Amino acid sequence: MTAIANPTWTLVCRVEDVPLLEGRTTSIDDRRIAIFRLLTGFAAIDAHCPHAAGPLADGIVADSCVTCPLHGRRFDLETGLALNGPESVAVHEVRVEEDEVWVRLS
Ligand code: FES
Repeated sequence: MTAIANPTWTLVCRVEDVPLLEGRTTSIDDRRIAIFRLLTGFAAIDAHCPHAAGPLADGIVADSCVTCPLHGRRFDLETGLALNGPESVAVHEVRVEEDEVWVRLS
């Protein structure tokens, strides 16, 4: 996905670009971000797992958490905390306006 920047918020995609309970990656200011579509809305975190850089957007999404596809660390998409390891991942603000998904880096 190609992001369109503004001073604080960046348009990253449209709602229909991310299937329910899946993730997609984008870049904001050269930072890779994973966008997830949850039952309750959208979430955004850094795209690389802090354990060994696994692609978090490719992980299984359930219960507002994503499981890293490489070694199974499970991250809460609201807090960024790993539920089964010492690491955490940065969480970014997301807002949806009509069918546009916007992210502001933390
Ligand atoms: S790279 Fe994500 S758990 Fe190892």
